[in-house]
Order: sequence, then C-alpha cells, then structure tokens
Amino acid sequence: MNGRIAQNQELILAVMNGLRESSNADYVLCVPYPYLGQAQSLLHGSNLAWGAQNVCANETVALTGAVSAYMLADYGCSYVIVGHSERRIQFHETDDTAATRFSAAEKAGLIPIFCMGESVEERDSDWTEYIVGRQIDSIIRRFGAEVLDKAVLAYEPLWAVGTDIAATPEQAQKVHKFIRDRIAKCDATIAKNVRILYGGSLNASNAAALFAMPDIDGGLVGRCSLDAKAFVDICKSAN
Ligand code: PGA
Repeated sequence: MNGRIAQNQELILAVMNGLRESSNADYVLCVPYPYLGQAQSLLHGSNLAWGAQNVCANETVALTGAVSAYMLADYGCSYVIVGHSERRIQFHETDDTAATRFSAAEKAGLIPIFCMGESVEERDSDWTEYIVGRQIDSIIRRFGAEVLDKAVLAYEPLWAVGTDIAATPEQAQKVHKFIRDRIAKCDATIAKNVRILYGGSLNASNAAALFAMPDIDGGLVGRCSLDAKAFVDICKSAN
C-alpha cells in the first residue's frame, strides 16, 4: 500500500534508467491496482515487466471490490503476487484460497509469484519444512506439478519480511533446496527450471550473497524497492 502518482513516476523512471543496460535477469514491478495504468504507460517497451500484488480467485462473478486475473491482463500485467504473508495473515488467506488464486492467474496467462514461508515460532519449533511443504503441496495436489512450469515461487520467511533480519544465505538455501526437491519428486525438469526467489529484508548489501546460492534464483524486494538506488543495486546483483 505504498506509492502515489507523483512518487511512482519518479521512482519508476529512476529504476528504468538504472536498469537500462541490464538484461541478464527478468525484472518486474508489482504495483497496487490503481497504479497499473501508470505502470503500463511508463514501462511499456522497457526491459521491466509489471504486475499486481494480489488477484481474486474467481473469474467472472458479481464480487464487489474484487479484481480478476483477466482485468490484470487488460492492463498488460505479466505477473501477480499470490499468497503474500501480509494477505495470508491480515486477510485470512489460507493455503487453499492462495492456491485457487494461483490457478486463476495461471489460467489468464499471468505468471503467479507464489509466496511461502514460516513464522518465527514455526521456525523455532523446526516446522519450516512442514509449513513450506504444505504450502507448495496446496498447489501440486490440486493442480499438478505442471502448473509450476512457468510459475515463480518466493520463499519469504515471516520473520524476515519487514524486519531487517534477512535469512542467511545458508538458511535460505536449505529451504529453497527443500522446495526444489519436493517438486522434483513429481517432475525433475520442472523442479530444475522453476524460479525460486528469496524475499524478506533483502537489501543491496545482502542480495549478492543470497543470489549466489545454487537454489536462489532471484529476489522479491519490499521496502528497498521504494528506493530506486537500493532497488537497482539489488537488481544488478541478480544481473
Ligand atoms: P521487505 O518485504 O523486503 O521489506 O522485508 C518483503 C515483502 O514484503 O515481501
């Protein structure tokens, strides 16, 4: 729920400018719904894609206030974040509703960025693999591993989102590998190709070490995406 028209313009132009020469990674800006048109008109023809931060699970139904995947496609979105921890916690999203949103996005031709992660209590009770396994299984069980073919997964431990305590590269790598191995049990090729991002207190100082880990394919950036220089530096580490 960050951004206003004037600020967005400045931020987006600075990011575009900073990434003009960078082409070895995929970049996407996921913006709040009211700014999709603004993102589309500024980013069209650039090397950055754009997307939304949530999507309704339903396709076409009377549902006041909801935004469907087809509406996002109308604004040229290529991606949409699904199951972010803030939505899971504050809007009572479950594994099941997040998986349904994932499928709605995928059917409309969008690439879902599916967020997973455990709380600090779950981590301290050694439940990380159980929680993250349950989250990824919520998709595989209902829709099969093939829907992960073009999807993006994001491991975002709740204790790292918005806290300034990022996971260490080793900590994150262990969970990323667990996720990849879990998918490999269903389909080794999809497991190899699926992009698994790390998110949670990523910044320009810790990104390179995290991105260097074998199963970390990129990042999902929150606060630092509001600062063009910090965001561009993180993107350059991925590049
Ligand atoms: P952060 O947020 O980078 O500010 O920790 C990550 C997120 O919101 O997904």
